[in-house]
Amino acid sequence: MKVLVTGGTGYIGSHTVLSLQEAGHDVVVMDNLVNSSEESLRRVAELSGKAAEFHKVDLVDEAAVDKVFAGNAIDAVIHFAGLKAVGESVQEPLKYYYNNLVGTLNLIRVMDRHDVRSIVFSSSATVYGEHNPIPYVEKMEIGANNPYGRTKEQIEDILSDLGTA
Ligand SMILES: NC(=O)c1ccc[n+]([C@@H]2O[C@H](COP(=O)([O-])OP(=O)(O)OC[C@H]3O[C@@H](n4cnc5c(N)ncnc54)[C@H](O)[C@@H]3O)[C@@H](O)[C@H]2O)c1
Repeated sequence: MKVLVTGGTGYIGSHTVLSLQEAGHDVVVMDNLVNSSEESLRRVAELSGKAAEFHKVDLVDEAAVDKVFAGNAIDAVIHFAGLKAVGESVQEPLKYYYNNLVGTLNLIRVMDRHDVRSIVFSSSATVYGEHNPIPYVEKMEIGANNPYGRTKEQIEDILSDLGTA
């Protein structure tokens, strides 16, 4: 399988790239490097013996995202790219709504155009807010209490509607 990992130079993304390569998949990475560097992929390549194809792309640039899909037969997407600091999201909500929501909308619009139907989205436990007891389970009612968590909740809703459609 050829798997696109957005946010693939980041913390969880780079570990996922390694696991995918170890499982025999080809990996394409898209990241704008706002919170990471290409060094992580160099180290992953050292461990796996295989280089992931890297594209420095900002997901808010839909044309740039489309170009990567046009040049690759992507089978599935694992979507990690996003801003993730709760405190910063309270100070700068617009930055979070724009980056996380517009980035995701562009990604799924491009996936639709290229007939790619499989996506795993990295949401967050923050969607469960503070009204649920730990440990959280997926059946619990969601209700984030900060802008970062709300971007995740809203993306979950969008993906759920798409799944239904
Ligand atoms: N680390 C955690 O404990 C945790 C827990 C729950 C959910 N998550 C979610 O998992 C994902 C990955 O988390 P992480 O800890 O690896 O974070 P991270 O910051 O290391 O990785 C996110 C990556 O996304 C990239 N990015 C951000 N906006 C982008 C954009 N518009 N276009 C392209 N790339 C962009 C960043 O450069 C970074 O490399 C995030 O979406 C985060 O919200 C993380």
